[in-house]
Amino acid sequence: MILKGKKIILGISGGIAAYKTPQLVRLLKKAGAEVRVALTASGSRFVSELSLATVSGEPVFREMFPPLDLPGTDFTRHISLGEWADALVIAPATANTIAKLAAGLCDDMLTACFITLRPGKPVLIFPAMDGQMYRSGSLQRNIALLTGQGCTVIEPENGDLASGQCGTGRMPEPDVIAQRIGMALQNATPDSPLRGRRVVVTAGPTREKIDGVRFISNYSSGKMGFALAEAARERGAEVTLITGPVHLDTPVGVERLDVENACEMYEAAKSLYGLCTVFIAAAAVADYRPELVLEGKLKKNSSHLQLNLIRNPDILAEFGTGKRPDQLAVGFALETGDGLEEAYRKLQEKNLDLVAFNTFDRKTSGFEVDTNVLTLIDRNHTETVLPLMQKKDAARQLLDCIEQLMHSGR
Ligand code: CTP
Repeated sequence: MILKGKKIILGISGGIAAYKTPQLVRLLKKAGAEVRVALTASGSRFVSELSLATVSGEPVFREMFPPLDLPGTDFTRHISLGEWADALVIAPATANTIAKLAAGLCDDMLTACFITLRPGKPVLIFPAMDGQMYRSGSLQRNIALLTGQGCTVIEPENGDLASGQCGTGRMPEPDVIAQRIGMALQNATPDSPLRGRRVVVTAGPTREKIDGVRFISNYSSGKMGFALAEAARERGAEVTLITGPVHLDTPVGVERLDVENACEMYEAAKSLYGLCTVFIAAAAVADYRPELVLEGKLKKNSSHLQLNLIRNPDILAEFGTGKRPDQLAVGFALETGDGLEEAYRKLQEKNLDLVAFNTFDRKTSGFEVDTNVLTLIDRNHTETVLPLMQKKDAARQLLDCIEQLMHSGR
């Protein structure tokens, strides 16, 4: 959402990872950004100018000096392109380009854009190179210089490198870069009351052990909680995601704490109760756990087996009933029938500021699926009925409601 209408210069220098950049341009355009590409001479050996011009829908900028014979030529484009941009992203950034940026050299459009970018506009640099090059003292010194002048230099990923070796030097995938750009732009636009506030989100199922090989759990996939964590991060919040066992990637910029059972989730959450401004409980916490956990494997010795279960702590209720006036408690009420009254009961009993009443039909809403149907009920009993939508969109709507509550003094 944040990328919509934003003007981004993508600077591409000469590394093998440049082959991924047309995909990055596509992602940024799909998110509504305007993208112009500044390609170095070495970069053009790894990715074609024609590919980049086609996906961006714009001419690609290379030489500092424009062709003299074209009508309508902008003779000061080495200045106007930098002035136009909301952000400059350099991916991949080679050791050579980083050295030029650090030294203030300006001999092509990429380096010119860096120097002419307006103050306060984010610069994101994604180094990508051989692991040894990345660790070299000269490169690290140049990175430190750039970081010192306000650039964000993103540490490359660990994995297979073009040299055939394995190490730190890989450029992140285009979707991760796009998210990073979104975060940087968000941070440059101070508007959300969530900015700089700590938001804690619980997500996923919990597993309650029966014996060494079995557990009680549920079908929660964690998708709603992860979407909320990502959406809160997009608005500039410091997000901690406490999650049960799920198969999801951690959203970029979110701190993740992995737990297995309800008691572990409770302990992790409790340590953050006092620190957070907003506590969002999206986890499907098991209400009960086996009283005794058997070591090894339970044998089938009889025709019936009785398990004694005891109550788990209610993580959200404890936060909600003990919260300070400046804190907000947000929960979900997943109900199988017409459970709106149940949602109101949970709003009141757990002292919530907002409850998301969640219907459940296994195809469009509830566990595992990518979509959800929510009704948001706030502490003033204002109901917002959301239609069927992607969980990511539902997460944004929910955060809009939280922001409104924060604006109205809660
Ligand atoms: N929740 C929690 N800790 C628990 C149980 C629930 O934090 N031990 C949170 C959930 O994350 C959710 C909300 O409380 O945000 C409501 O959970 P739900 O399972 O719908 O309701 P319960 O309180 O467990 O009540 P019931 O099982 O009677 O419906």
